[in-house]
Formats: sequence, structure tokens, C-alpha cells
Amino acid sequence: MPSGWVNERKREYYYRKAKKENFRSRASYKLLQAVKKYNFIKSGDVVVDVGAAPGGWSQAARQLVEDSGFVLAVDLKPIAPFDEKNIQTVVGDVTEQKTVQTIKELLPRSADVVISDVSPNISGVWELDHARQIDLATKSLNIATAVLRSGGNFFVKTFQGDMTNKFVHDTKRHFSFVKLVKPKASRSQSAELYLLAMKFRKKR
Ligand SMILES: C[S@@+](CC[C@H](N)C(=O)[O-])C[C@H]1O[C@@H](n2cnc3c(N)ncnc32)[C@H](O)[C@@H]1O
Repeated sequence: MPSGWVNERKREYYYRKAKKENFRSRASYKLLQAVKKYNFIKSGDVVVDVGAAPGGWSQAARQLVEDSGFVLAVDLKPIAPFDEKNIQTVVGDVTEQKTVQTIKELLPRSADVVISDVSPNISGVWELDHARQIDLATKSLNIATAVLRSGGNFFVKTFQGDMTNKFVHDTKRHFSFVKLVKPKASRSQSAELYLLAMKFRKKR
């Protein structure tokens, strides 16, 4: 069976599922599948969702943290408000240092988890897109190290490529467990890959 056809069917399947289950994007399933396997978001957690528009991951994270947790959704674009009171949205650019301060001010306490699906507009020029993705992932890492509690977790989108190893290496300086993961809902054709980092070693 041609892989393009399989990927198209997969995209269609998750698109329909998201519509039926009231998720704003089919990306929600990538997060839910990864959490099911690695259990890095729990009930009661404070979660920062970076590059969150239109809000599919924030909805999935809200399901996982339940009523007692809190989700802060950050994006360049305004995000339509959610019905649930414990998801807050804010407009912010992850490449700007002031965004870290904004996030800190809006959090009830240090974050348990930072998730980031932030991605650039794809130009089609592979080297450029890869470099931009790693740059945004690195900015997300900076946010994570600034707002996470000791022992917290980080989950971020990367693209497979020659700069990925260095990013994994940089992340390992801050976390005890680091692993590249590819959720089932992510098309096998795409270079998209997620890095999961657990047990943040906060510097005192
Ligand atoms: C793939 S989408 C995220 C989808 C989201 N996880 C969901 O489930 O609905 C990537 C997002 O990254 C955002 N983004 C790109 N560059 C950004 C930046 N510098 N700062 C903040 N957000 C950015 C885009 O606006 C876009 O909404």
C-alpha cells in the first residue's frame, strides 16, 4: 500500500475523530498518545502550552489535569477562549525574553509541565525549516528551564535533521531522562518528531 495513501487516511481519521470529540485540532491525539505511554501530565498539574493556537493540545492537557490543574496557552495569535475556567490564554512570542516574565506572572506557581508544538511557517526549503524549528524548540527549552519546578517535564516538537542531536544534547544538560518519540497520530512521512524530557534538574 503506498505510504502517501496511508498517511492521508491517517490524517482524515484523526481529523474526523477530533471533530466528533470536540477537539480544536487533530494534534490533540499526538499529545494524548504520548502521555498515555509516558505519563508526563497528571491530575492537578500546572501546564504551560507554547505555540498553542488553535488550542487542541490545551484542551487535551485540560482533560489530563482535570478541575484541580491549570493550563496556560501561549501563542503569537490570539486563541479563542475556552469554556473551562482553568485554561487561560495569552498572546506572546516565544522568541522574546519578556514572554518568560509574562508566563511567570500568569502562573499560580512553578509549572509541572511545559509542552510546545510551536512551529514556523513552512517554506519548503528543508535546511531553513529545520533550522527554524530547532531555534523555536530551543526558545521553548529556555522557557521550560525558567518556569518549571524541580522534577518537572518538557515535551516539544522538533524536526529530524542534523541539528537534532545538538538539541537533544542541550536538553540532557537540564533533565535526567530525554527521549525522542513519534506518536502514532504523527504522519510517518513527516520529519516531525517530539522530544520528551523528564525530571528537570533545577539549578538552585
Ligand atoms: C502546529 S501549531 C500548534 C497546534 C496546537 N498544538 C494545537 O493542538 O492546536 C503551531 C503554532 O505555533 C505558533 N507559533 C509560531 N511561532 C511562534 C512564536 N514565535 N511564538 C509563539 N507562537 C508561535 C503558531 O502561531 C501556531 O499556532
